[in-house]
Amino acid sequence: MTRPCFIANWKMNKTHKETEAFLHAFNRLSTKSPSDPADVLIAPPFTALSEAAKTLHEIKSDIGLAAQNVHNEKAGAFTGEISSDMLCALGCGSVIIGHSERRQLFGETNALIHRKLMAAQTAGLRPIFCIGESAEERQAGQTWAIIEKQLSEGLGADTLKVDFKEKISDWLIAYEPVWAIGTGQTPSPEETAEVHKQVGDFFAKRYETVPPRILYGGSVSEKNVEAFMKEKAIDGALIGGASLSVDSFFQIVALGARTKRQAAPAPNSR
Ligand code: PGA
Repeated sequence: MTRPCFIANWKMNKTHKETEAFLHAFNRLSTKSPSDPADVLIAPPFTALSEAAKTLHEIKSDIGLAAQNVHNEKAGAFTGEISSDMLCALGCGSVIIGHSERRQLFGETNALIHRKLMAAQTAGLRPIFCIGESAEERQAGQTWAIIEKQLSEGLGADTLKVDFKEKISDWLIAYEPVWAIGTGQTPSPEETAEVHKQVGDFFAKRYETVPPRILYGGSVSEKNVEAFMKEKAIDGALIGGASLSVDSFFQIVALGARTKRQAAPAPNSR
């Protein structure tokens, strides 16, 4: 079994104190009822990363820390920006890159996303690379064309170098249809799995190696997580709104990990 992965993307929510309280509460729930094997990550705002790292260390939690964004340069005159090295120094292991809100609201292009992906990987941060089509693109039958463009332009030729190629299997890909984010609407698990298979094949063909894990994101909740996780091609979830409540996020992880274990009862460490 591929180890499932569940990531809380808090967007612009929670102070550092609220983050600390959330992690203590999540820890209490996990101690009371341990879940099946899964990687669990939280992506709080930049201002809460340091407190989150400290709290996770104190409670000896194996929850991983992710940032929601990163600048593509190493350092310099970029007022208001944060570098990969700064995130690594805080104990952050992963970073979300190419989220549709960054693409739509902050004008991030595939070319910029490519530079960010390279900067993160070079610094030793694992990219959580987000892709997904808009409602209009889907209606026009362009879902795969858009995703393939996001993938090939985002990855670029640099990742075909031998040293990058070796690391691709460790990346996380989040397929998030734009129209499903924060709307309560989702594609069906079967439709989602079809896209995931295409993404997996794209990686397998391009890098001739084990594809990265592919997570689904967009209105995931404790009500629908099991249906998505029953699909073999869906390796986990990126959760926005429902991850703000500790009870909901805990339920999503517990139900999602259990479904994955039941679907394939021979876990390995991937
Ligand atoms: P949502 O957000 O779960 O609130 O739809 C998902 C995301 O944007 O990552």
